[in-house]
Amino acid sequence: MAIQWFPGHMAKARRQVTEKLKLIDVVIELVDARVPQSSRNPMVDEITAGKPRLIVLNKADMADPVVTEAWLRALKREEVEVVAVDAKHSKGLKQLITGAQKLMKEKHDRMREKGRNPGPIRALIIGIPNVGKSTLINRLAGRNIAITGDRPGVTKRQQWIKMKGGEMELLDTPGILWPKFEDQLVGYRLAATGAIKDEILNLDDIALYTVRELHARYPEQLKERFKLETLPEDGVELLELIGKKRGLISGGYVDFEKASELLLNELRHEKIGRISLETPADHEMA
Ligand code: G4P
Repeated sequence: MAIQWFPGHMAKARRQVTEKLKLIDVVIELVDARVPQSSRNPMVDEITAGKPRLIVLNKADMADPVVTEAWLRALKREEVEVVAVDAKHSKGLKQLITGAQKLMKEKHDRMREKGRNPGPIRALIIGIPNVGKSTLINRLAGRNIAITGDRPGVTKRQQWIKMKGGEMELLDTPGILWPKFEDQLVGYRLAATGAIKDEILNLDDIALYTVRELHARYPEQLKERFKLETLPEDGVELLELIGKKRGLISGGYVDFEKASELLLNELRHEKIGRISLETPADHEMA
């Protein structure tokens, strides 16, 4: 799913999240582990201010584990816990619950001292489209629930979804935030990982950005996947070489569009390996 966000949508999404914040103890902010900064909403700190937050680097199975470790360290701060999970295969869910419990520990200890039962932690999952919100809710619930976003004009009673172990309850409609499209690099990173549709940006440009990034960050994987002995410095030449290797020739020339599609397809289906397209150092956070 890709959404075109306009100022009206943003104001509405923000209002909906703000209203839900009143009902919950902890915000679970889901981002894509391959692009943790680009897949987060730039205003999330402000929108969720005052609530303990658990940042979940989802799709960790597809990301470079070394880079994910660096992100876990870089994003951690007071009132914020960070965990890496693979919601699709239910990995890391225990750490997620432990993370939420850590955030609530002081408050819950105080309640217990006063003889009160804190009950389950109430949480709201938020994130931009496609980061895995529905998948995570389903895995935490231990069953498949039809999850819909908030639709304009449809007011729906909020339901709590009880988690398997009873430690947590989730609001059944996740908060959908908008990505920051104004920054072109963010757009390319989101497009390369498949978070936004290819039609939003030019396919050739996305592929060129991707091949250059792979060349800089993962040259060995690139050589291995496409059986290349050396990598041309120039992105266009490199993409053409990949097309040539795969026989994508039409009228005597490499079909650039097909080569672009092939590269992106292989990246998104993990054929090139576990790839991360941004590091804390890129954002001077390391
Ligand atoms: P959303 O609610 O935030 O919009 O995201 P959603 O759960 O619909 O997930 C978007 C896509 O990401 C789905 O793939 C889903 O299976 C995949 N996904 C979610 N979490 C993970 C994860 O931890 N690891 C991996 N590898 N993939 C994950 P899809 O292709 O749209 O659907 P499907 O082919 O899985 O049915």
